[in-house]
Amino acid sequence: MSDGPGPLAGRRVVVGVSGSIAAYKAVSLVRLLQDRGAVVDVAMTRAATRFVGPLTFASLTHRPVLDDVFELDADQQIAHVELAEAADAIVLAPATANLLGELAAGLVGDAVTAIACASRAPVIVAPAMDAGMWTHPATQRNVATLREFGYLVVEPEVGELASGLTGIGRLAEPSAVLEAVERLFERGGDLEGLHVVVSAGGTREPLDPVRFIGNRSSGKMGAALAETARDRGAAVTMIAGAMGVTPPRGVTVVDATTAQTMREAVMRAAPNADILVMAAAVADFAPARASQRKIKRSGENLQIELVPNPDIVAEVGEMPDDIRPFLIGFAAESQDLEVNAAAKLRDKGLDLIVGNVVGGPFDAIGSDENKVTVFGAEGSLTDWPMLPKRQVAERLWDLIGDRYRTARNTDGSAPGGRRRRRS
Ligand code: CTP
Repeated sequence: MSDGPGPLAGRRVVVGVSGSIAAYKAVSLVRLLQDRGAVVDVAMTRAATRFVGPLTFASLTHRPVLDDVFELDADQQIAHVELAEAADAIVLAPATANLLGELAAGLVGDAVTAIACASRAPVIVAPAMDAGMWTHPATQRNVATLREFGYLVVEPEVGELASGLTGIGRLAEPSAVLEAVERLFERGGDLEGLHVVVSAGGTREPLDPVRFIGNRSSGKMGAALAETARDRGAAVTMIAGAMGVTPPRGVTVVDATTAQTMREAVMRAAPNADILVMAAAVADFAPARASQRKIKRSGENLQIELVPNPDIVAEVGEMPDDIRPFLIGFAAESQDLEVNAAAKLRDKGLDLIVGNVVGGPFDAIGSDENKVTVFGAEGSLTDWPMLPKRQVAERLWDLIGDRYRTARNTDGSAPGGRRRRRS
């Protein structure tokens, strides 16, 4: 089986096969994945079963092949949900034009689309079709949509097609698809051994048992950062305020919905963290008193006294060097981004600050995309376009990882002067 503990050793990979003549190449792909030590499950569309029998895959993998979206497994669990949750990666090869269209539209009529849609694992798509279908605007639009979802696309190759014509649309070689899967996990390694803490979402400051003062933060940026750090091998703690999205699996979640509870959670986690990213939108003020009983309508004006909340990230910035993690803050500004971000970086004792403009024609809050500029002590460090938040997170970790390593190597200690406890 495995020739050593490569990046795929022990990883659960689901290969989703759809109805193309290229389905036979999925057999080689499954073998290659298994040779690298991956545990492979195969899901098939009905059409795929007309090209290659499920028995072929079942014999190769010694595991049941899922070709029915309604199937229950041996424990009477819904099989596609179980597989979706267990998967470390999903590879759709070959992916027909029809499959791409269904995935882009969120239609989940078969086992393959159901698994891809239900899972939070990374998805690799390897399309295969006739050249005319591949270049059709509908297909290209669907592929663009899938890329926006964060799916990775292994482009089809130019060559002889099933029609006998030559053109673009031939499924990439199984070895190329395998490389894409391996890269997924190799890239995962650059934060290996680090403990990363990410705060996310907004705080809610209670007024009475049913009301609070809050903000519109969705937690999407923080969740993307936590998920990406996890995929790069970090041990991740996510300190979660009020979130509009589910925290990623595989990270330790600490719920903290008020600024005070978030402060406690962050102060507890920070001394054990190598890197802290404060992506949470912490309320600057809280009601001086939260009424025990629901405040009743009286016909009179209601005065609410607000008192300042602690500045959490600034407190971490003041921690002694031996326990202070490498520190990244966010700055949401409606104007003068550079000046305000620079001031926050300095005043809060941060190593980096991620600035974004809010309240303009584009509103990052709640959006799936973000346009950010990162600032260090020397000024602006990036010139990135608007990107899906997952891609923003990838680029941020590239930058944070580099800076963290440089800071650690410069003074022989962890950033902030901290002696590393691990290693
Ligand atoms: N932050 C914090 N504690 C607070 C307020 C903010 O830790 N009580 C953190 C945020 O998580 C973010 C950074 O400080 O990483 C900047 O947040 P921002 O709201 O932009 O700055 P404020 O300091 O609140 O300044 P202002 O609202 O006046 O712009």
